[in-house]
Amino acid sequence: MQAESLSLNWQDWLERWDKQQSGHVPDREQRFQAMLDVLEVMLPAEFIAVDLACGPGSLSKRLLARFQRAHCVAVDLDPVLLALGRGALGDMQGRLRWIEADLRDAGWIAQLGGEQVDAVLSTTALHWLPVESLVQLYSWLGQLVRPGGVVLNGDHFMFGPHMPTFARVVKTMRARKEASAFSQEGMENWRTWWDALARVPGMQTLFAERERRFAWRGEEDIEPIPELHEAALRHAGFREVGVLWQNLDNRILMAVR
Ligand SMILES: C[S@@+](CC[C@H](N)C(=O)[O-])C[C@H]1O[C@@H](n2cnc3c(N)ncnc32)[C@H](O)[C@@H]1O
Repeated sequence: MQAESLSLNWQDWLERWDKQQSGHVPDREQRFQAMLDVLEVMLPAEFIAVDLACGPGSLSKRLLARFQRAHCVAVDLDPVLLALGRGALGDMQGRLRWIEADLRDAGWIAQLGGEQVDAVLSTTALHWLPVESLVQLYSWLGQLVRPGGVVLNGDHFMFGPHMPTFARVVKTMRARKEASAFSQEGMENWRTWWDALARVPGMQTLFAERERRFAWRGEEDIEPIPELHEAALRHAGFREVGVLWQNLDNRILMAVR
């Protein structure tokens, strides 16, 4: 179902999305800004970026607002979030293209049209992928990103079992930050936001499709440690790989092709 055929205030739902996401990731805006700062330093004014697992286009929206001559391709599998993104942002004067695809399959690369890109970015998302799909994805990025281009993955990267004290300290500090964010009156979280949108008349078909597309997701998926991300990116052909920015376990992993 197309976003236009539903009469929702998409702008309002996008603002509510950003708000609940900022509760779960309190330094989300700083992280967006740091990622875009990297693009400003590394790339010419005119460039092509890909926003992987874009959700409703949170990062694409900020990128295109800041870089007026840039183009962005936003890729996601979720029909609900894509409807929200398309409804709220449209194509941003022809500079934003949406691709509806599963990042576990190579099909999304074919839809890009064969051109190399300057940057691939992702926020709060790639931890959804099974480890083998993540490693495969990074190897595709090694082909997709042009020499001198960059991958920026902003996400929570958990400390591994070899760093149990770090893991414990970060878990406690993160829980405190989240509790403080959600103690505000009327603040929605991930669950209440999804429940509220599911109750909107006309959304049932999209929600059923969402359920079908994500049936592969397990409850207890194991998230790879940052060292695995780094090794996989190096193996994919990226020559400089490391953490550029960090607050507790919230990090920006950067890889230069
Ligand atoms: C927490 S949301 C983050 C969305 C957005 N990047 C943001 O920062 O607001 C995680 C996103 O990953 C997407 N995702 C998870 N697995 C995916 C897959 N296999 N293919 C495409 N998108 C996927 C979900 O649909 C969801 O939009």
